[in-house]
Amino acid sequence: MGNLKNIEPILEIENLSKSFGENAVLNGFNLKLYAGENLVVMGKSGSGKSVMIKCLVGLMRADSGCIKIKGQDITSLEHEKLDILRTEIGFLFQGSALYDSMTVRENLEFPLRRHKKMKKIKGHTENLVREALRNVGLEHTIDLMPSELSGGMQRRVALARALILKPGIILYDEPTTGLDPITSKEIIELMRKVQETYHTSSLIITHDVDCARVISNRMILLIDGINYAEGTFEELSNLKDPKVQAFFKN
Ligand SMILES: Nc1ncnc2c1ncn2[C@@H]1O[C@H](COP(=O)(O)OP(=O)(O)OP(=O)(O)O)[C@@H](O)[C@H]1O
Ligand SMILES: [Mg+2]
Repeated sequence: MGNLKNIEPILEIENLSKSFGENAVLNGFNLKLYAGENLVVMGKSGSGKSVMIKCLVGLMRADSGCIKIKGQDITSLEHEKLDILRTEIGFLFQGSALYDSMTVRENLEFPLRRHKKMKKIKGHTENLVREALRNVGLEHTIDLMPSELSGGMQRRVALARALILKPGIILYDEPTTGLDPITSKEIIELMRKVQETYHTSSLIITHDVDCARVISNRMILLIDGINYAEGTFEELSNLKDPKVQAFFKN
C-alpha cells in the first residue's frame, strides 16, 4: 500500500465518543480508510463495533467526534449533500436485514428507486438488478422471498443490494458470523472479487480471525473504546500485549 501517511483517506473517523448512560462504549476512537484497501476492525462482542458503524452511516448520533467522507465532515453537512454522499457507501448490516415482505427483486430495487436519479446511474432497473444478482451467483432467486433462501444466500443477496449503486466504499458488519465455514469462505471470496472488480475501499467489522487473516490489508483493534492497536495481521499477531494476544490465541 506504499506510504499511506501522505495520502488523503477516503473515510476518516476522528475522536469518536459514544456513551449509553454510564456505559462509555467509544472513547475517542480514530480510523482512517484509504482508497482501495480492505481495513478490518476487530473487537470483542460488545466492544462497540456496530455502534461505530451505525454512527458512520447516520443510524446513531455520536456524542462527539468527527466523521469525514472524501474530506467532507458529514456531521455538519446539509441533508441533500449528505444523501448524495450516502450513495457512495454500501452497507452490509449485521445479519442480512433483507425486507421480509419483499421479493429478492424488490429488495434490490429499493436502493435504486431512492438513489438512481441522484447518482445518475444508467441502465434499466431490471438489468441492474440482474447484474447485481449475477455477481453473487443468485440470478435465479430474483422472484423468491427471503424466507425461501438459506442464511448464506440471504447474506449474498444483501451483498448484491449493498453493491447495486456501485459505491466507492463498502461497510461490512460481521459478514461471516453465523455461517458455516464453507459458506463463510464463499462470502470472503465474494468480498475479494468485489474489491477486485470495482476497486472499492472496504471497512470490515469482524471477530472472525480467519476472515481477518484472509481479507485484511490492514487492521485496527477496538479495545477499551479506542483504536488500541493498528497494523497488518502479521504485525498485530506478533505483539506481546496480552489484550492484543487474546484475539490471536488458538
Ligand atoms: N441503542 C442502544 N442503547 C443502549 N446501549 C446500546 C445500544 N446499542 C448498543 N449498546 C451498547 O453498546 C455496547 C456495544 O454494542 P455493539 O453492538 O456496538 O457491540 P459489538 O462490538 O458490535 O458486538 P458484537 O460483536 O456482539 O456485534 C454494548 O454494551 C451495548 O449494550
Ligand atoms: Mg455488532
